[in-house]
Amino acid sequence: MKETTFVPPIKIQGIKTKLVPQIKRNVIINKDTVWYEPFMGSGVVGFNVMPQNAVFADINPHIIAFYNQINNGTISAGIVRQFLEQEGKKLEEGDDKYYYEVRERFNAHHNPLDFLFLNRSCFNGMIRFNKNYEFNVPYGHKPYRFSKAYITKIVNQVYHLENLLKTHSWTFLCQPFEDTIKMAQKNDFIYCDPPYIGRHVDYYDSWDEKSEIALHDALTNSKAKFMLSTWHHNKYRVNKYIDDVWDGCFAVTQEHFYHVGAKEENRNPVVEALLTNYSITGNKDEVSIVNEQLTFDTIFSAT
Ligand SMILES: C[S@@+](CC[C@H](N)C(=O)[O-])C[C@H]1O[C@@H](n2cnc3c(N)ncnc32)[C@H](O)[C@@H]1O
Repeated sequence: MKETTFVPPIKIQGIKTKLVPQIKRNVIINKDTVWYEPFMGSGVVGFNVMPQNAVFADINPHIIAFYNQINNGTISAGIVRQFLEQEGKKLEEGDDKYYYEVRERFNAHHNPLDFLFLNRSCFNGMIRFNKNYEFNVPYGHKPYRFSKAYITKIVNQVYHLENLLKTHSWTFLCQPFEDTIKMAQKNDFIYCDPPYIGRHVDYYDSWDEKSEIALHDALTNSKAKFMLSTWHHNKYRVNKYIDDVWDGCFAVTQEHFYHVGAKEENRNPVVEALLTNYSITGNKDEVSIVNEQLTFDTIFSAT
């Protein structure tokens, strides 16, 4: 039977919706485990793994503010419906002029509902901030973006999240990954999906070799189990950091397509990898496994 994946209300480049089934199958958690997700982005991974206890964190304060407002009831499904109906109508009338008015308003006041509006009407559902930490994604040129059906879809996403938050103990923190990883204890699980080196230009999302090494050190100093999402190779190159930095981790790879991205290289198929500090199959010599839905090409110990 096909598993359904809950898609959260916030979109982000590099969203891991398609990898959720594989990640879910390969994490090791129990009812006492605290799930730490230092690079939550949209939150799609943890929201679908649904651990009882979780800390979701990100350096981007707007993502965290949005989820905190759902958590404390400031934002509800009803409020989102009312807001998007009202703002959607203004977008229909004002088109690009209105989009840029809301963008300016958001950059001045940081209202999480404006963030949602921009995220769902901008070009390709991207999140990108300039060096002054201003949201700078251009308009998606769809004045009728907020149709009845589209609003209902977003409202249902918020409603689902509201219900999850009522029955789970989840916290949202705006902090650098080092602080989140430090919080994890032995029985806990850390899932990391950092920006990929050189792929995106966003001032909340910059990543270089120093960051990759700092992440490696933080994770290997932790007593918790961890899983890291990274890319393995594309048509042009292999990810040298898997051997250079993540040497000694276990890895599974899977083909995953990126549809987002204006740059041609970002639209090429990328083979994704999941790196862990535990053996996923329990058998280091195993070279390939086939899951019900998708194929993991290889299982190997990255040495
Ligand atoms: C690839 S996205 C995560 C996508 C997420 N797994 C999903 O499926 O939606 C990377 C996230 O890391 C965050 N980030 C970048 N640098 C960070 C840092 N130093 N500490 C914490 N978060 C960071 C970005 O703001 C971004 O939301």
